[in-house]
Amino acid sequence: MTTKRKSTSIKKAKVDSVVKVALLGFGTVGSSVARVLAASKFRGVELTHIFNRNPARKRSSDAARLLPASVVWTDDIDVILHSDVDIVVELMGGLNPVEGWLRKALAAGKSVVTANKQLIAYRGTSLAKLAALHDVYLMHGAAVAGGVPVIPGVLQGLGGDQVTKLSGIVNGTCNYILSRMEGGADYATVLADAQQLGYAESDPAADVDGHDARAKLCILSRIAMHAELNPDEVATQTISTIEAIDFSYAKELNCTIRQVSRAELDGKLVHARVAPMLVPLASPMAWSHGTQNMVIVSGRFGGDVVFSGHGAGGEPTAVAVVSDVLAVAQGCKTVQLPVRKREVTGDFMAPHYLRFVVDDKPGIVSAISGALTTVGANIDSILQRRGYPKHRLPFVVTTEPSLTSTIDHALASIARMDCMLERPLCLQMLEPEDKAE
Ligand code: HSE
Repeated sequence: MTTKRKSTSIKKAKVDSVVKVALLGFGTVGSSVARVLAASKFRGVELTHIFNRNPARKRSSDAARLLPASVVWTDDIDVILHSDVDIVVELMGGLNPVEGWLRKALAAGKSVVTANKQLIAYRGTSLAKLAALHDVYLMHGAAVAGGVPVIPGVLQGLGGDQVTKLSGIVNGTCNYILSRMEGGADYATVLADAQQLGYAESDPAADVDGHDARAKLCILSRIAMHAELNPDEVATQTISTIEAIDFSYAKELNCTIRQVSRAELDGKLVHARVAPMLVPLASPMAWSHGTQNMVIVSGRFGGDVVFSGHGAGGEPTAVAVVSDVLAVAQGCKTVQLPVRKREVTGDFMAPHYLRFVVDDKPGIVSAISGALTTVGANIDSILQRRGYPKHRLPFVVTTEPSLTSTIDHALASIARMDCMLERPLCLQMLEPEDKAE
């Protein structure tokens, strides 16, 4: 995705004068970028312009006070596009209107550094072509896993391998929510905290329903496995249906619950899914708490490589952005390999955790077992704790490895049983041999 300027004008600019930088957006990440730049005073790089919808308000913020008085604040994007800045740093997010602005910036010969995962997941290939056409850079190291250098690490360090599988935790908000729920907190409280702390997207549904992680998984699939996936075709499952009882039953199974994103090459097909999954307590993913992200990349020659660190939050993400700015300013090259469009399926062969909430009566387990037998799925365990009211009884069935689509087929008929008070919850369970561990 990273494209490079064939000429040396950025390098010359650095030597002869300064590389001028404009920020689009002065929210959590934008103000942190300004703080990091002000604190580190990198020679040859100068923040000259800031675009924001309410410049008067942002100008009086603490971060703004660190900036030189010469910085031009504007709410008119044309001021940036027609300026002499060399690098446009986009930290606003979303496709519209940002995509159009960045296309104009690239066409005007400005390099672009962005943390915008939706933009890169959906439009990355075409923006990269545009950048190449105009001999400028498009860098997006902050688009996946915030401050964890998984994108430069994969592009530069794993370009020589054949990556077949990747998995991990790429949404800090979901990890923050689930790891705090594991400790007993309730969902609504921790979601509100994540919003307050600036981890969550402006619409937190993007985090909890898996759309943020899905975009990141598509970017990772492209750079690591050279497989271009349509994000809309990647299966997602919300974490909002996970309850305290699931952590309790997961613990009995020596597991916890994390939002896991996984993708695996299978010939011309890619298996890809973003969902809450049961993760063994012995897995590094189970040890990842708060906004920590973790990506495990499995290569044919090099084996597993693990990237881990803070995946959300202003300063960790700002580090990735500023690193991209410095790379552009110094004319650094990155490895580029051809990418192919791939079909995608959400199916994985895995054990499954099924949680039911029923109005109890005789024969329920027998009926569930019958539906699973019909599709050829074998029950591995049944967990039912005493003490829950009979009229609202939660219990769990786990299966031996089966295709998720097979289990879904059985669940479609199980969900129609009169005694079912809620839609059954179905989670894939990671096994020790999964590289996700
Ligand atoms: N909302 C995102 C997260 C921010 O929680 O991971 C970083 O992309």
